[in-house]
Amino acid sequence: MSGEPISRRRALGLLGLGTAGATGWAAGWDTPRSDRLKPAAQGGRFAEPQVLASHDGLLDVRLVAASGVRLAGRETAGWGFNGTSPGPTLQVRPGDLLRVRLVNHIDQPTNLHTHGLHVSPSGNSDNPFLTIEPGASFDYAMRIPAGHPAGTFWYHPHHHGTVADQIFAGLVGALLVEGAGGEDDLPVHSDRLLLVTDTTLDGAGRVASPSMMAKMRGREGELVLVNGQHQPVITAAPGSVQRWRVINACVSRVLVLRLDGHRLTHVALDGAFLPAPVDRDQVVLAPGNRADLLVRPTGRGRYALISDPYDRGGLGMMGGGPSTGGPVVLATLAAAGPAATSPSVPVRLSAPAVPHGPADRQRRLAFAMGMGRMGMGGMGFTIDGRTFDPDRDDQSVVLDTVEEWTVVNTSPMAHPFHLHVWPFHVLAGSAGMPPAGVLQNVVLVPARGWVRLRIRFSDFAGRSVFHCHILDHEDLGMMATVNVRG
Ligand code: C2O
Ligand code: CU
Ligand code: CU
Repeated sequence: MSGEPISRRRALGLLGLGTAGATGWAAGWDTPRSDRLKPAAQGGRFAEPQVLASHDGLLDVRLVAASGVRLAGRETAGWGFNGTSPGPTLQVRPGDLLRVRLVNHIDQPTNLHTHGLHVSPSGNSDNPFLTIEPGASFDYAMRIPAGHPAGTFWYHPHHHGTVADQIFAGLVGALLVEGAGGEDDLPVHSDRLLLVTDTTLDGAGRVASPSMMAKMRGREGELVLVNGQHQPVITAAPGSVQRWRVINACVSRVLVLRLDGHRLTHVALDGAFLPAPVDRDQVVLAPGNRADLLVRPTGRGRYALISDPYDRGGLGMMGGGPSTGGPVVLATLAAAGPAATSPSVPVRLSAPAVPHGPADRQRRLAFAMGMGRMGMGGMGFTIDGRTFDPDRDDQSVVLDTVEEWTVVNTSPMAHPFHLHVWPFHVLAGSAGMPPAGVLQNVVLVPARGWVRLRIRFSDFAGRSVFHCHILDHEDLGMMATVNVRG
């Protein structure tokens, strides 16, 4: 060993910059590791948030964002909507009007974003530039187009600078667009929502604040929850068909889903059906992604739904190797009772057509991490060399055109690219993975890699944003505006 240069990781550890090896990946919180909330109920019965469904073309709800929710079976100082985290599941149909009175009872500004919905970004619709001050309320109205795909979406705050904190504290909820019936409905025994979040809570149930280093890496909470529960048990009859709608609502954690003893039948991604079901050993969901899975318990027994570790890369020169956490148990499938006769899974699904043909314009965007702002206690997280400015138009697009965007990532860490309002089709990427063949909202851009997307800027003019869905990076500035002009 002598004469061998000291490794960079070890050197940085000695400098006190903190690495997974030297201080534990869990370091980087403002409370000591020994002071943590212990989940009360492990293996409690799986439960889902309350469902608020539209009637006669309208869903009119009041969402109160406030502190005080039950997480992992404990009363905590986490945040929720209407007293729960996740908040109520909003269920609408194509053509509906969704009205939300958002009441802000937290102590910082907030707002609301309907992630993945193809709705107007302007006025009091899905407008990410709004600010709802503490104590104030605001009336949103989103008109869902008649031809909107039926599927799994979600809602969360989008006030730049505090998005990660607010989601980490629990401000999330599911938003389901139901089909008009018929071919949109899959024949299943049960249709379940698994909204996955992660957070870190101290012994008093307060949400821990991450260090600057943890934010730069993208914080990953120590407690991974499904519908606010710790490792709930999902019961099902052997042979039955379950539809699991999994939403990755974690701030930074990539989920690598796997079910012991089973393959997962992937039927939808980001709210759109795949052209045909695909059986997989694992399904990878970046923060913001959703997957609808069909699960058929093969026999009586208990099977863990696991998220395996995913290497998102590190901060390069800043230190910090890949995340070293092990597999995490999300939930347990308990198959018991008499066997069910299984409806057959359709061979084809009603996938919306993916547009093709030449693009009207091509653009290249660069996601980068720089050392430029070290004096401010961190790196710069930039798109095309700039951090977010809500008043600047970064990309100007003509309504009803088709564009091809090549998103280049010059950094040693993967960044999930997300665009509001207009779903995109992945054409190719440096990882060489076959594209999903479906319109999606979030795609991982590999470290020092790229993806090429095709985007149809249809139906809605107006300004919105695209950003890294590691929401700490978004809050640090890795977000830009797009102005679509009619
Ligand atoms: Cu789910 Cu701009 O975010
Ligand atoms: Cu979004
Ligand atoms: Cu990022």
